[in-house]
Amino acid sequence: MEKKVYKIAVLPGDGTGPEVVAEGLKVLDAAAAKYGFAFEKTTFNWGGEHYLATGEVLPEDAAETLKKFDAVFLGAIGHPKVKPGILEKGILLKLRFDLDQYINLRPVKLYPGVETPLANKGPEDIDYVVVRENTGGIYTGIGGISQKGTKSEVAIQSMVYNYMQVERCVRFAFETARKRHKDAPWRGLSQEDIAAGKIGQVTLCGKTNVLTFVFDLWERTFYEVAKDYPDIKTAYCHVDATCMWMVKNPEWFDVLVTCNIFGDIITDLGAMTQGGMGVSAGGNINPNGVSMFEPIGGSAPKYTGLGVINPVAAILAGAMMLDFLGEAEAAKDIEKSVEFVTAKKMKSQSAGKMGYSTSEVGDLVVENL
Ligand code: IPM
Ligand code: MN
Repeated sequence: MEKKVYKIAVLPGDGTGPEVVAEGLKVLDAAAAKYGFAFEKTTFNWGGEHYLATGEVLPEDAAETLKKFDAVFLGAIGHPKVKPGILEKGILLKLRFDLDQYINLRPVKLYPGVETPLANKGPEDIDYVVVRENTGGIYTGIGGISQKGTKSEVAIQSMVYNYMQVERCVRFAFETARKRHKDAPWRGLSQEDIAAGKIGQVTLCGKTNVLTFVFDLWERTFYEVAKDYPDIKTAYCHVDATCMWMVKNPEWFDVLVTCNIFGDIITDLGAMTQGGMGVSAGGNINPNGVSMFEPIGGSAPKYTGLGVINPVAAILAGAMMLDFLGEAEAAKDIEKSVEFVTAKKMKSQSAGKMGYSTSEVGDLVVENL
């Protein structure tokens, strides 16, 4: 049989992005060798340095170029010498929109041995995913400012959703719940756990008590789509209460689905409960197109080049990429190896306190594959 070759666009980006990407790729290559597939990688040096040198944020045809790949692997975007917003909007958000990556999938999973600030909670309590809508809502930038700088100044930025955007996002969440249900035995969940509702549930996170137009649409669509998934339970939480339960009873969640801005906010909270930005990965998913996988932390400029940044998030982003490419077994293998390394090897998940350098952590994950 001919060896499967996946074409990957690599965007190392700024700051510590290239360092963590290198470890992600190291682990991906090791998994490829073990499972008999290969990568053909093309690197694009878009980011802060490229912008400062050329004035170009992203080439005109960037999205078209990336559409020729099977997936995109991204490090981090953000540069201390570039005004906030330029690179974030011009690269990250632009690619999410232009590639129609309408889902931002963010697992909140506490790996064994990783410290959580939540008292009396362990890996069995913190294991859910957030399905964040990724191309709509307040992020579309609809709005404007008039009479700027005067006392009459008005600024508007609207939360806009159409039915199609909500429907496809909610449907993805239910599909995700089914997949997690199927994977339950591998994830160490028992039939009792399943019966107790730890799995097979989608919770809509909204604000139906105040945002009565937008979340009316979300709520109706949610229950309509739910009819196609009689095997999956449903729940609803306002976003403020969601934050509360994420801290107090994270074990209640399996799949959380929400709009773009709420998803942005709650996933930073989720990341902290799972041990921080060093371990939090995300996927910008277009189920019918090209998806982009990234560690969700920033470029951490102060740690650049020191070999102290935690590559676990990038490694897990790589595993997520493999899962979406159809290499589920290799993806699970990487996750298992990460679990071993966090439980038995690493002292901490914080930069500089891991007990190992960035590349040593990558090596450990490779050794234990
Ligand atoms: C994220 C980030 C981005 C977002 C920023 C950098 C534009 O915070 O991926 O969560 O708001 O989506
Ligand atoms: Mn964010």
